[in-house]
Amino acid sequence: MSGVDVRIGIIGGGLMGRELAAALGRWPALIDHPVRPRLTAVCDIRPEALEWFRQIDTVTQLTTDYHEMLASDEIDVVYVAVRHDLHEAIYTDVIAAGKDLLAEKPFGIDAPAAESILRACAEHPGVFVRCSSEMPYFPGAQLAYRMIASGELGRIVSARSAFLHSSDLDVTKAINWKRQVATCGAAGVMNDLGLHAWHVPLRLGWAPRTVYADLENIVTERPGPDGVPVPCDTWDNAVLHCRVDSGEYSFPMTVETKRIDPGEKNTWLLEVVGMEGGVRFSTKNPKRVEIFAKIPLSGGGSEQAWQQIDAGSQSAWPTVTGGIFEFGFSDAILQMWACFLAERTGELGPRFATAHPREAAATHRLAVAALASHEGGRAVSLAAEPALA
Ligand SMILES: NC(=O)c1ccc[n+]([C@@H]2O[C@H](COP(=O)([O-])OP(=O)(O)OC[C@H]3O[C@@H](n4cnc5c(N)ncnc54)[C@H](O)[C@@H]3O)[C@@H](O)[C@H]2O)c1
Repeated sequence: MSGVDVRIGIIGGGLMGRELAAALGRWPALIDHPVRPRLTAVCDIRPEALEWFRQIDTVTQLTTDYHEMLASDEIDVVYVAVRHDLHEAIYTDVIAAGKDLLAEKPFGIDAPAAESILRACAEHPGVFVRCSSEMPYFPGAQLAYRMIASGELGRIVSARSAFLHSSDLDVTKAINWKRQVATCGAAGVMNDLGLHAWHVPLRLGWAPRTVYADLENIVTERPGPDGVPVPCDTWDNAVLHCRVDSGEYSFPMTVETKRIDPGEKNTWLLEVVGMEGGVRFSTKNPKRVEIFAKIPLSGGGSEQAWQQIDAGSQSAWPTVTGGIFEFGFSDAILQMWACFLAERTGELGPRFATAHPREAAATHRLAVAALASHEGGRAVSLAAEPALA
C-alpha cells in the first residue's frame, strides 16, 4: 500500500473511538488513496477501555492522560470522541498543541463553546480541523446531494432532512451522559443528532432565515446507577420548520432529530422536491434511491412518477468493493475518514468534504433559535455567524 504515512491518536476509546480503529483496519479497500493512516496512540480515562486497543499492533501509546499524547511528536492527527461538556477544553488543547483534529459533533456543548473552538482554529490557521458527520457518505445520499446541487430539480418546493432513532423507547434504559443537560447540553437531541441532519442542507447553502421549533421531552426520568430514578432532562425530539431563502424565492424545509420515533433505528433521510424533479433517500432502505420525474407515456402525454433505483456500494472515494454490493454505517465512517485525510493533504478534488467547523458551529446557532422559538411559540430568526476577532 503506498501513500503518505499519517499517525493518528484517539482521545475517547468508547463507541466511536473503536469505530475509527475498526475503519482504519479496512483502509486497503480504498483505491489509490494518498494517505496511509496508522493508529499509534489511544487515550481514555478508563484503563479498561484501553484494553480493547491492545489487539491493534500499530498502537504504541496507551494513556489515561491526553496531555501525554499531545506532548508526543509521534502524532499527526487526533480524533476526539468524548462527552459534549469536554469538547471545548480538549479540542482547544489539541489545536493549541498543533495537532490536526477530527472533532466529534456537536463541536462543543453549546454556541459559546463552539465559538471558543472556532477562535482556537483562527489562532492556529495551520491546524486542519473538521467535524465528524458520516451519514452523507451513503452512496444514495451522495447521489441525492449531486442531483440537488446540480440544480436539475428546478425551483425547490420543499425539503425534509431527518435523523430518527427510537433507542429511548425503553423507559427502563439507564440514564447516561447523553440524556442529561450537564453533559449533553441544553439542546439535547439537537446536540446529539443535529449535525447529521444539517450537514447536507448547510452544504447546499440552505441555512434558514427563520426557525419554528417544536421540542419534546417525553421521558423525564430514567434509572440511575443504583436503579433510583434521576432526571432525564434533555429534549428527546426536535422538529424544526424552517424558511430557506434561495435567490428570488424561499421554500419550507423541515429538519427533524428524534430519539423517540417508534419504528426508527438510526434512520437518516433526505427528501427534496422541486418543480422539475425530486429525490429521496433513507438509510432505512440503504440501497434505494427514489427519483421523481414526469415520464412520457407510450400512449402520449406524461405522468408523474417516483421511480426506484439501487445505489450500489460506491461512495465519494472508490473502493475495491463490488459496485453491486451493499453499503453500511462502517463504510460511511471509512469514506468520511478517506475524505478528511485526503482534504488534509489537498487531494480531495471535487469529492464531498467532511463537515467544516463553521457548519458544526452553525448547528448551535440553529439550536439557540430552536430553543427560543419553542419557548416563545413563534418563528425566530437565525443569528448571523459571529465575527471571531
Ligand atoms: N458520528 C457519529 O455517528 C456519532 C455516534 C455516536 C456518538 N458520537 C459523538 O462521539 C462523541 C463520543 O460519543 P461515544 O458514543 O463514543 O461516547 P462513549 O461514552 O461511548 O465514549 C466516550 C469515551 O470517552 C472517555 N473519556 C471521558 N473523559 C475522557 C478524557 N478526559 N480523556 C479521555 N477519554 C475520556 C470515556 O471513558 C469513554 O470511554 C460524542 O461527541 C458523541 O456525540 C458520534
